[in-house]
Amino acid sequence: MICERVAEELKERFREARAVVVLTGAGISAESGVPTFRGGGGATVWRGMPVEKIATPEMWRADPVTFWQWYAYRREVIERAEPNAAHRAIAAWERQFERLTVITQNVDGLHQRAGSRKILELHGSLWRVRCLQCGLNMEDRRVPLPEIPPRCPSCGGILRPDVVLFGEVVPETVFSRAVAATAECELFLVVGTSAVVYPAAVLPVLAKQHRAFVIEVNPETTPVTGIADVTILGRAGEILPHFSPEGHGGG
Ligand code: OAD
Repeated sequence: MICERVAEELKERFREARAVVVLTGAGISAESGVPTFRGGGGATVWRGMPVEKIATPEMWRADPVTFWQWYAYRREVIERAEPNAAHRAIAAWERQFERLTVITQNVDGLHQRAGSRKILELHGSLWRVRCLQCGLNMEDRRVPLPEIPPRCPSCGGILRPDVVLFGEVVPETVFSRAVAATAECELFLVVGTSAVVYPAAVLPVLAKQHRAFVIEVNPETTPVTGIADVTILGRAGEILPHFSPEGHGGG
């Protein structure tokens, strides 16, 4: 799928890199059965509504039942999903590189379940909830939820998932850590993201500006393709396992 010469170069880059960043998006979980937001020419619609309309603070306030039905559905799909070969390959790279940072836009927790430990969740986690009324923030893995919308065990307020909703800003603390890891890495992989949502989409550009070698893995081209040193058109679960000490370098 990629020529011998490029495969050799990638093998070399992997052998020599000490600081590595992997930026992931919904596509890395596609082979686990978690639907992506975009790709294949379409955008996600649920019960006739675009998710950009449902997953918003306005919807949470105006219609918390519909809002939470969407999140309850996602929690059910994701709870049944298992990490795939791509999540597992990335987790194994923690033993291979001096510093490996996973920066994910996903809220599904599949990197953690595969064994990755250093993960920056730019868009939060579906498995945490918070209460805007009393400030409680806690893990919540209940599937199915006992009531919709779920209520705060402390004050009875309506909970919200601890995720970044459409129209909200990625928390400064997590993003500045992502920027720092990006600025100091030698190898930057971009896996399964359409790279159209900011601020995550700025990270491959930043990596390039700091002279990292940028590798993209995606079955489709994206805005990153134009700046990547190498784009491998393929599925993450099939490509990433090749990039391991016992793999054969992406060929
Ligand atoms: P998208 O759904 O926008 O893009 C998914 C990408 O994965 C597409 O480019 C697909 O071509 C690619 N893809 C599909 N199957 C793949 C596979 N098996 N292996 C590798 N790649 C594959 O997902 P994101 O870029 O993550 O934000 O979307 C970014 C953000 O947009 C999400 O975090 C979410 C959404 O709005 C919020 O909810 C705030």
